[in-house]
Amino acid sequence: MAGKRTFTMIKPDGVANGHIGAILEKINGAGFTIKAMKYTRLSTEDAKSFYAIHKERPFYGELVEYMTSGPIVAAILEKDNAVEDFRTLIGATNPKEAAPGTIRALYAESIAANAVHGSDSDENAAIEGAFHFSGREIF
Ligand code: RTP
Ligand code: MG
Repeated sequence: MAGKRTFTMIKPDGVANGHIGAILEKINGAGFTIKAMKYTRLSTEDAKSFYAIHKERPFYGELVEYMTSGPIVAAILEKDNAVEDFRTLIGATNPKEAAPGTIRALYAESIAANAVHGSDSDENAAIEGAFHFSGREIF
């Protein structure tokens, strides 16, 4: 059965371009509730381990540099079928391919600076949420 929680970050471009409020409105409007949230900045070590799954990919260095370039918003979200429904809400990785009305279609700059992260499985949602939040920060 699909889980009820996913993990997201509003990435440095989403924050720098002033889209935090609009993105949170889309998230709440789609029926997600916020179970944990913080405004923070990733260290190089944080970004490397968070995206370790991509370490052999050609864009890994660029991804780590980008994700540490400015503040982000990290959050745990709750809704039935959370992981899949959130991936639908954010749209394709490349904003040029993202469906109209999705967060990336509306707010992303490019495939690298694509406004938001969304977990890709229930297992990774749990790992990523625990990476950013301790038990007493999660409601
Ligand atoms: P995310 O993990 O951030 O939600 O993104 P995603 O699942 O849609 O895409 P994924 O394949 O997991 O890639 C992670 C992030 O790496 C950057 N990327 N850059 N330059 C490139 O070709 C390229 N490809 C991917 C993006 O920021 C992507 O979100
Ligand atoms: Mg991914």
